[in-house]
Amino acid sequence: MRVVVTGGAGFIGANFVHLALKERPDWTIIVIDKLTYAGNKDSLPDSGYEFYKLDIAIQNQELEQVIKSCDAIVHFAAESHNDNSLESPWPFIESNIIGTFRLLELARKHHKRFHHVSTDEVYGDLELDSSDKFTETTPYKPSSPYSSSKACSDMLVLAWIRSYGLDATISNCSNNYGPRQHVEKFIPRQITEILQGRQPRLYGSGLQVRDWIHVDDHNSAVIKILESSTMGEYYLIGANGEQTNMQVVKKLLKSLGKSEDDFVHVEDRAGHDLRYAIDSTKLQTTLGWRPRYSDFDAGLEQTIEWYRNNQEWWEDAKRVTENNYLKKGH
Ligand code: NAD
Ligand code: DAU
Repeated sequence: MRVVVTGGAGFIGANFVHLALKERPDWTIIVIDKLTYAGNKDSLPDSGYEFYKLDIAIQNQELEQVIKSCDAIVHFAAESHNDNSLESPWPFIESNIIGTFRLLELARKHHKRFHHVSTDEVYGDLELDSSDKFTETTPYKPSSPYSSSKACSDMLVLAWIRSYGLDATISNCSNNYGPRQHVEKFIPRQITEILQGRQPRLYGSGLQVRDWIHVDDHNSAVIKILESSTMGEYYLIGANGEQTNMQVVKKLLKSLGKSEDDFVHVEDRAGHDLRYAIDSTKLQTTLGWRPRYSDFDAGLEQTIEWYRNNQEWWEDAKRVTENNYLKKGH
């Protein structure tokens, strides 16, 4: 199978390429990436795949040829950071909505299998003190420019399935953690702050809850869906990893030999979602998927170790990112 991986130089896409090369050696992997600030070729393996630097939001012949040559598309490419979407929404509209539209049209024209990678943020948030979880029937109610652009892209995929019979599936996953995540995101930002001798920053109270899943578990679910699911199916991916942001920061501080209270509170994110939680029963019962990283603390230790050992991978991006946060007052 020739599999196009859009956004393959980003966090989840690059880890997907590593996993697929190891676990599906008979696949040919073709990466398409615009190499925005979030894309990094050093995240990819040294060899074993094809690479095309292309913007999915711009119609062009090379993009069409690459899509024409493949059997399936796994669509990760997107602008992915909520804070950036609040500052500057347009790139989110362009890459997430127009980019998905262009890919859908190419997949329709050339009859390709399409898997759309989306987020649990399309559902908005849950109450902090409830035990509710998102399911496949939870209504969409996105909060930020990022999550609304992803919700819009999901709607496009649903319409292409129903109106054009496109052989597509959608998955909505909770917060990923693991190696090769950009240092703008919560866990790598705090790990690298501590490694550089500064204090972690909690937005607002720090009592917001995220449902963490190791990136390899997200990607093993995507492979399962790609291989086993029927057209039009829709899955939530999660691994019961609910933690408050403060709990995560305390674990990181302790693990890096600091006092658990050595953090600061900073101004809250506008429209900050309170809690996400995923019920992945459908994925587990219909496709038999199970997460391999059931121990969040062990996964976090492995992630800390990766950032400790790969400073050259993150230090340039760290400088730029912290300058940007400084301008925002964080
Ligand atoms: P990321 O920001 O780390 O990577 C995104 C990649 O897409 C980058 O390599 C970037 O260069 C590329 N890209 C952006 N715009 C492009 C364009 N117009 N054309 C081609 N390439 C483009 O993001 P991530 O965290 O790896 O997320 C990947 C996907 O998974 C996204 O669709 C995101 O919505 C979804 N998702 C992420 C999480 C999470 O916790 N990170 C959870 C659920 C779903
Ligand atoms: O739920 C899936 C989503 O998870 C994905 O769709 C997004 O692409 C991904 O970025 C992530 O969104 P979040 O907004 O939840 O992730 P982020 O890492 O930005 O923040 C996680 C939580 O930590 C959130 O409650 C905000 C908070 N936070 C973040 C940063 C960067 C802090 O308290 N301090 C910080 O410095």
